[in-house]
Amino acid sequence: MPQTRAYRAALLHCLADPREVGGEASHEYFADGLLVVEDGRVVQLGDSGSLLPKLAAGVEVVEYADALIVPGFVDTHVHYPQMGVIGSYGTQLLDWLETYTFPAEGRFADPAHARDQAGLFLRELLRNGTTTALVFSTVHPQSVDAFFEAAEKLNLRMIAGKVLMDRNAPDYLTDTAESGYAQSRALIERWHGKGRLHYAVTPRFAPTSTPEQLRLAGQLLGEYPGLYLHTHLSENRQEIDWVRQLFPERSGYLDVYDHYRLLGARSVFAHGVHLCDEECRRLGETGSAVAFCPTSNLFLGSGLLDLARLEGHGVRVGLGTDIGGGTSFSQLHTLSDAYKVLQLQGQSLDPFKALYLATLGGARALYLDDRIGNLQPGKEADFVVLDYRATPLITHRLGEARTLAERLFALMILGDDRAVLETFAAGRSVHRRGS
Ligand code: GUN
Ligand code: ZN
Repeated sequence: MPQTRAYRAALLHCLADPREVGGEASHEYFADGLLVVEDGRVVQLGDSGSLLPKLAAGVEVVEYADALIVPGFVDTHVHYPQMGVIGSYGTQLLDWLETYTFPAEGRFADPAHARDQAGLFLRELLRNGTTTALVFSTVHPQSVDAFFEAAEKLNLRMIAGKVLMDRNAPDYLTDTAESGYAQSRALIERWHGKGRLHYAVTPRFAPTSTPEQLRLAGQLLGEYPGLYLHTHLSENRQEIDWVRQLFPERSGYLDVYDHYRLLGARSVFAHGVHLCDEECRRLGETGSAVAFCPTSNLFLGSGLLDLARLEGHGVRVGLGTDIGGGTSFSQLHTLSDAYKVLQLQGQSLDPFKALYLATLGGARALYLDDRIGNLQPGKEADFVVLDYRATPLITHRLGEARTLAERLFALMILGDDRAVLETFAAGRSVHRRGS
């Protein structure tokens, strides 16, 4: 017997990038909507008035008052071992890594610690309405096993991989070019394509890998179809100078990755704050994506991402929390900072574009938009119920809002995990606020 259930609330999802189609055509909205889910997939969505009478007898209808259903959020760059270093004081990237981050990652040699943190991390993602993420683990293979085991139990669509680092890091966090390759292969065989899981080849960033390790990362991408490449790029000025010293024969930071065949579909580069036009062009032409991490770029003093320029070169851009350089798991909060970052550059982020970045745009950046990112029939039923009455202030502010755009924008500026009433993954409730 198929498992069918219907959810009644206001419904909103994106159909396309507002930048490409403009205005109303970018999204679909039902003020009194019905989302019908069968065996983990969306089978119908539309107006309750027309769909309810046609629903088969016995199908349960779950009703939410003062709520908005949107697709599950997509986080295109986050570190699960860095929950414990969020809000560490006073440094920029390279000192921050040495002082806070590497010691915290060292603890993941212990599988029990990794399991404990993986569970906590996924609970926190789901509390914030994030149902898919591209995730850094640590150099330890057991950290990847712990993460995928926890994600598999919840049937989440998740991407992760073992960090590759064979130089310029503490001994307790380094592998070798050969061991990193062999461990990655074993993890790919174990996890890539299992259920809803995907593997990402994960060199931390150019300074912590030798040319041989980067070469083997490129080789891995050619050996298995559908793998991701996940790394950092042009985040911080000192970092960029360091890459120039380490790879003097390359024309710039992106060219290091390009030389080792690490660009292409499913390659995701976090930050990309200080790119030149040629680098943007090359990212666009290869189908690579950039993860926009505004809370982290502000917190670590890295800089302001020029979204319009990247998009002008056809680069796919998703939103990243970059925990623990980033300061919030919430995509709503991250969008609020994204808005301010763009304001400082004379760019705008209208609320529909913002929703796009957090959902369908993220799915496009990850080449998963055929499965997730919106609520079209056939898509996997990953969705979030947002509460229009999450806090007294949100209740008050939304009471003053006249249009959907105003409500959505105020929710994004004021909202966070408190606005997430319930989260569903593949049609199953995986978080209910307060329970
Ligand atoms: N660059 C290399 N490693 C890291 C990391 O862990 N966080 C951030 N924000 N940037 C990095
Ligand atoms: Zn990062």
